[in-house]
Amino acid sequence: MATATAFLLLPTLDGCSPSSSIFQTSVNPGGIIEVPENQIKDTKLKIIRPAGWQYDIALHKKEDGSLAALLLRCTHMDNQLAQASGGYICHLHGSRFNMDGKVIKGPAEKNLESFPVSKDNNGNILIVVKNFS
Ligand code: FES
Repeated sequence: MATATAFLLLPTLDGCSPSSSIFQTSVNPGGIIEVPENQIKDTKLKIIRPAGWQYDIALHKKEDGSLAALLLRCTHMDNQLAQASGGYICHLHGSRFNMDGKVIKGPAEKNLESFPVSKDNNGNILIVVKNFS
């Protein structure tokens, strides 16, 4: 029980994390996730949770205002990542990734998978996941 409690508290203990919230949505038939631009207007990080997916996507607004979408799947053994100070952590074996998805601590060796991001004329952010396997 103590182990389970500690595991549940770990993301909270990384108190220096940028604040984010979860936006639940779905993937449209064209393989695109639409996110209203106002979802990331006042934050640098939004967690996107597509219906039926095992993993979340981190939608990150960089310093230059550009957007990046990272699959929060550890590249070591496919565990869901959690938000942590300065990036993301895998609580299974301790790998860490920075906000750009680059490995900063193993055992993972590969950077996080990213998706192309664009905007449409209606103020939606489009995350293209159609080639995701
Ligand atoms: S599954 Fe993430 S470090 Fe092993």
